[in-house]
Amino acid sequence: YNFSNCNFTSITKIYCNIIFHDLTGDLKGAKFEQIEDCESKPACLLKIEYYTLNPIPGCPSLPDKTFARRTREALNDHCPGYPETERNDGTQEMAQEVQNICLQQTSQILRLWYSFMQSPEGTKHHHHHH
Ligand SMILES: *[C@@H]1O[C@H](CO)[C@@H](O)[C@H](O)[C@H]1NC(C)=O
Ligand SMILES: *[C@@H]1O[C@H](CO)[C@@H](O)[C@H](O)[C@H]1NC(C)=O
Repeated sequence: YNFSNCNFTSITKIYCNIIFHDLTGDLKGAKFEQIEDCESKPACLLKIEYYTLNPIPGCPSLPDKTFARRTREALNDHCPGYPETERNDGTQEMAQEVQNICLQQTSQILRLWYSFMQSPEGTKHHHHHH
C-alpha cells in the first residue's frame, strides 16, 4: 500500500486539529535530533504509518497512544483500500518502557508530519530537457 489515493485535505485537517495536539502534548517540549525525512505526502504517510503503528523495543506502548489511534483512524477513514491488518503485538518481548525512547520516537513522528505538511501531494517528477 503506497498511500497515493488518500484524501490529503482531510488528513491535513485531522492532523492540524487533533493529532498535532496529541503529539506535542506527549512531547512536552522535548527535543531530539531527527534522522528520517520524507519528500511527498504519500511517502510521508508511509513513514508516519511505519513509525507510529509498529511498537519498538523500549516503547511497546507507542501504537496504543492517543495520537497513534487517531492516526490509524485517519488512515482507515481517508485512504481508500488502506489495509486494516492486525499487527503483531510485540509487547511481551519488549515490556520495558523507557520514557526517553518513547519521546525520541514521538519526536521523529512529529518531524515526519511536519514534512508531510510541507510536501507536494505527488511524487516529484523530473523534467527532462532534450
Ligand atoms: C501506488 O499504487 C497504485 C495502485 O496500486 C498505483 O497505480 C500507483 O502507480 C502507485 N504510485 C506510486 C507512486 O508508486
Ligand atoms: C476529501 O475530503 C473532504 C472532506 O474533508 C471532501 O470535501 C472532499 O470532497 C474529499 N476529496 C476527495 C477527492 O474525495
